Formats: sequence, C-alpha cells, structure tokens
Amino acid sequence: MATERSAKKRVAVLISGRGSNMAALIEAATAPEYPAEIALVLSNRPGAAGLAAAQASGIATAIVDHTRYGKDRESFERALQHEFEAHRIDLVCLAGFMRLLTSRLVGRWQWRMLNIHPALLPAFKGLDTHARALAAGVKIHGASVHFVVPEMDSGPLIAQGAVAVRDNDDEKTLAARVLAVEHRIYPLALALVAQGRVRIVDGRCVIDGARESAGTFIVPDMDDGRRRTEDGG
Ligand code: GRF
Repeated sequence: MATERSAKKRVAVLISGRGSNMAALIEAATAPEYPAEIALVLSNRPGAAGLAAAQASGIATAIVDHTRYGKDRESFERALQHEFEAHRIDLVCLAGFMRLLTSRLVGRWQWRMLNIHPALLPAFKGLDTHARALAAGVKIHGASVHFVVPEMDSGPLIAQGAVAVRDNDDEKTLAARVLAVEHRIYPLALALVAQGRVRIVDGRCVIDGARESAGTFIVPDMDDGRRRTEDGG
C-alpha cells in the first residue's frame, strides 16, 4: 500500500536586500525530504538583489513596495496578507526584511512567522549588532531564529548558533562568520517548525526529539594544563 507523504509546508520568505538567508532556505528546500517548500519570495523593495536569485531558482516573487503606502501600514500589510493567501502560504520567514510589522499581522501569524537576527538574543536587539558586540567586548557572539511577536527581536527562540569573537575581528570579519551560522540555523529552525516539532511551553520553545547538547564552548581557548591532562590522559 502506498503511504501518503505528508504535504510540505508552503513558505513565504520576506526580504529587503541581498537575500543570502533566503538562498540558504531555497537550497535546503531542494532536498526531497525537507518538510517545507519555498512558494514565494516577497520584497518590499523593488530593487532587492534577492529577487533575481529567487527568480533564477524558479520561485514565484512578489513586490509590495512600502513607499507606495506612505504611513498606511494597515494597507501595506493587507497587501502582504493578500499575497500570502494567493500563494496558499503556511509559514512566513522574515530574512533581512527591514519593515516592522504591526501586532495585527503578527497576531494573525502567531507561531507561524519566523525571523533571523544576527546576535545571540536577547543581547543586541536592533541594528548594528556586530559593531555593538565588538564594542561590548563579548567573547561569544552569534545568531538567533525566533518566532515573531509584536515586540521587535523578541519572541520564543527556536535555534541559536555561536561563534568565537577574535581579538583581530572587525565588523566585516565577524559578520561573515555569523552569517555562515545564520545559513545553518535558519534551515534547521524552519524544518523543525514545519515538522511540528516546536512547542511553546511557558513562552519558550521546546523542541521534540532534540538530543541533549553536551557541547560547551569556552573563549578564550587556552592551551593550558587542564586541556593537556584531558587530552593526554
Ligand atoms: C542577516 O544578517 C539577518 O540576520 C538580518 O539581516 C541580514 C540579512 O542578510 N536580519 P541576507 O539578506 O539574508 O543576506
């Protein structure tokens, strides 16, 4: 008897610029077993570089230019919702989408709208995260994928990834290493949500079937006596 495969979730990726996270999601979704398909890439900026990349991958694109709506955020969001419905969207991924959404639209997509942020939230919400991390002197920095709630860069965390901050890092080198992490955690987080493995318990995400992580990550990484003992027995 043929077993019916569960339908893939239809995803809209919202971008404003280069779209490298969008490209990572598109690439991940090409795997036959991936539980989601990218059904729409939508930009609020007509010139977003990511649009051409999406089209080259054969993905439907849409532009909802926010400048045409002035201060009328409700109409702008109605146009977004219209596109979501036209493309029968199940999940929305914000990927460098530089517009704040009202609680009306966010509420409508509760636990179905994800965002990626280039910092280990709740640290460094907002813009210029890498410069601020360097200025603060943190030793570990990274990226977070979270469900979107009305408050900016908040909402239950689904996945995070960390990198060591190096003494000679500048904003560019640090951003590049964090971006590589973003491209890993966003496809992971989307897959978990699409599989229905993310539950919200007391305002936090619990991931069904995740292994307990044994990892510890200490920076600075010193070649000290303890490590020699551990290595050498
Ligand atoms: C990423 O760093 C993302 O975390 C942030 O905006 C940037 C978008 O980059 N929200 P890209 O367009 O995905 O390349």
